[in-house]
Amino acid sequence: MNQNVREIKNNTLYFDGCDTTKLAATYGTPLYVMSYTDIKNRLEELKRDFTDRYPGARIAYASKAFCTEAMYEILKQEGACIDVVSGGELYTAQKVGFPAERVEFNGNNKLPKEIDQAVSFGVGRIILDGLQEIELIEEACKRYAKKMNIMIRITPGVAASTHDYIVTGKKDSKFGIPLDEDVFMPIVKRVLESDYLTFVGLHMHIGSQLFENEAFIEALDVLMDWAAKIKEEYDADVKEVNFGGGFGVTYTNEERKPYSFFLDPLMKRLKQRAGEIGIEVPAAVIEPGRSIVAEAGITLYTIGQIKEIKGLRKYISVDGGMGDNIRVALYQAQYDGVIANKAQETPDETVTVCGKYCESGDIILNDFKVPGSVQMGDILATYSTGAYGYSMASNYNNNPIPGVVMVKEGQSDWMVKPQSYEQIVQNNVMPQFLA
Ligand code: LLP
Repeated sequence: MNQNVREIKNNTLYFDGCDTTKLAATYGTPLYVMSYTDIKNRLEELKRDFTDRYPGARIAYASKAFCTEAMYEILKQEGACIDVVSGGELYTAQKVGFPAERVEFNGNNKLPKEIDQAVSFGVGRIILDGLQEIELIEEACKRYAKKMNIMIRITPGVAASTHDYIVTGKKDSKFGIPLDEDVFMPIVKRVLESDYLTFVGLHMHIGSQLFENEAFIEALDVLMDWAAKIKEEYDADVKEVNFGGGFGVTYTNEERKPYSFFLDPLMKRLKQRAGEIGIEVPAAVIEPGRSIVAEAGITLYTIGQIKEIKGLRKYISVDGGMGDNIRVALYQAQYDGVIANKAQETPDETVTVCGKYCESGDIILNDFKVPGSVQMGDILATYSTGAYGYSMASNYNNNPIPGVVMVKEGQSDWMVKPQSYEQIVQNNVMPQFLA
């Protein structure tokens, strides 16, 4: 089990051994804080319950959840693979010398220049997401005299129960290849016949923040039906199956499930279905993003203006907001947190915590309970902000993107420095005709 790195003592929140009020004083706020220990514990759980347990299994961390050089360094050291979806993520991996064969390239509209970058670097797999991509990959392979391993992403037509914006597996989706006989099979054939492509298997991703395993199994069944057709029609074996990511985490009171809750039944079914088709059990791959980093992150803010709207609501404002956490405005996401310097005082007042951005929807916490003594200068910590917080940050209102500090058993250091005003405008230029 994952040990919780959050600890409350002396009326103060500690995170991975660090006093969070001291972190705020030393590094400034708003500040993202990432726990090395928590990330490492998750990776160990995955190792124990998945990669060590099932031969050939591998994890490909979904970089989109949180992508920085130091994060890639940890994954590199731990022997994990990564899933990238852009030239920028790939560039970051290249910059830390991430082993190319451990990179898997996803995306519904990979650009020609991104495909070129991936092929020249020699990534381990490209996850095919459309017909036109094939030629682009072949052309790049020709240019670099290389072959490329291809997994084909299917749209399994399974609706997982989660927020509508993050459902990706249902039939009406921009992701994956629809499973219509006359669409899907010619694409498989095209890959099998190519001199430059090696067909290795099938990929699915049904959605995010999931707590049930039925939809995974249902989708795997669909995937294996097509593995059977591929065997029957082309005598080709699906050697790898990627189950995608989406394993749910605790933001407020969701009950997080261990990875084995999802993976053991999936592996059992995979084995059974492979036996029925008469192929070797395919190597299994997963792409967890959120479940590795969400709970490993907190965000620290300093409290500013406090406004009481008589008979309605009390607003407490912080020095960050939707620029560092868009998930509340975008998905009505709910978070929890604590006043880090008053962590043991009784929370007896319900407030709305808002940010400093010019937008009414710029809310950080709804119906949040704080001690009545809360005042300007106090430090608010929000929990489980490690996934899709920093990675979805923006410069709205020309506010700088906060820095990220990594903590480990009482030690702390920058992993991303905060943006300066100078950096916000560094690419601004005056058009000649204005001069
Ligand atoms: N693999 C594929 C192909 C994906 O599209 C995704 C997420 C993942 C893996 C990782 O899923 P995870 O394990 O992190 O749930 N911005 C949204 C989440 C979008 C997820 C998109 N794809 C959010 O903040 O909730």
